[in-house]
Amino acid sequence: MKHLLDLFATVVARVRPPVCIALGSPWPVGNLVAALGGQETVCFQMDLHQASRVRDCLSEVGAKAEVVTGPDLWDLEPRFQTVIFPAASHTDRELKLDVIEQAYHVLRPGGVLLSLSEYEKDNRFAKWQKKVFGKCGETPSSENGMAFWSTRPDEDGKRRRHEVRFHAKLADGPSMEFVSRPGTFSYGRFDNGSRAMIEVADIRAGDSVLDLGCGNGAVGCLMGGKIGPKGRVTFIDSNLRAIALTEINARANATPHPRFLTETRLEGLGRREFDLILANPPYYAKSDITRLFIEGARDLLRPGGRYSIVTKMPTAVVPLIFETFGDCSVIENRGYSVIMAEV
Ligand SMILES: C[S@@+](CC[C@H](N)C(=O)[O-])C[C@H]1O[C@@H](n2cnc3c(N)ncnc32)[C@H](O)[C@@H]1O
Repeated sequence: MKHLLDLFATVVARVRPPVCIALGSPWPVGNLVAALGGQETVCFQMDLHQASRVRDCLSEVGAKAEVVTGPDLWDLEPRFQTVIFPAASHTDRELKLDVIEQAYHVLRPGGVLLSLSEYEKDNRFAKWQKKVFGKCGETPSSENGMAFWSTRPDEDGKRRRHEVRFHAKLADGPSMEFVSRPGTFSYGRFDNGSRAMIEVADIRAGDSVLDLGCGNGAVGCLMGGKIGPKGRVTFIDSNLRAIALTEINARANATPHPRFLTETRLEGLGRREFDLILANPPYYAKSDITRLFIEGARDLLRPGGRYSIVTKMPTAVVPLIFETFGDCSVIENRGYSVIMAEV
């Protein structure tokens, strides 16, 4: 954190309000807002859970900013004089490109994109920002990372989407096409863990199914191909971009009776509503999300309802399933454990 704030101090004179902080982890964002010393600031996030953590961090550091959420940064009004992009080293290359591209469209002409890279020597940002903005200045390489700045020219500029389409099918089902965008799980491909889970799931015609933590919705769409027109598929995710993609994918693949929810605590789902729930929780999330995906799901199932969760950490997940469902079976598939239970 000290590194980021020391780096920011070297470029803070370039900042003019109103400021938008594009993505970034909650603590860095909270501290950047505090370092801005009361300049009008909007923090943009795509995930509702992250957004609420940003709000918590802001109140802990005693800083004020509006926190807004959406599937795309460029949906914000183009009124900002500065966009700050605190890019963690683990941020995917495609998401960095996407933020640079979208930042252009929320800046006023003459506004500045300021990217903060954690890398001591980062030779990529300048290249990417030049491509979109025409020019890019940079700080010397340092142990605090590097900062890059570009000024938005007068031209409106074309909106370029970073997205990848891919196909997936189950052995006995039709091939489906999916669109994926950076910042959501499994960009450009169908996840192997999800494939392992859906291959062994007991999916029946007419089922009401829940794709829990749906990402781009591929699991629910593929289930939709098996349950037939009388079935229904509900998709839920905390990430607004994931749900926007899911809506596109479900419509393109004629998913039966689709419903889309963007929530963090399974709000909006009815008790005993589902015959089948499939869950692929975030791999690196603390067990509270896995716990939510298990304990929160149980009461959503009808008597006789089926539950599947896929994991690479069965020793952590199986005890939670036993506590919640009383019993389970485990199938090993494609290097993953698929844990299945019934109510
Ligand atoms: C491992 S990904 C699986 C995505 C998708 N099922 C697939 O196979 O591509 C886990 C998903 O859970 C979502 N997620 C994380 N926390 C959540 C929460 N509290 N409520 C709903 N979804 C959540 C993430 O945004 C992510 O899309």
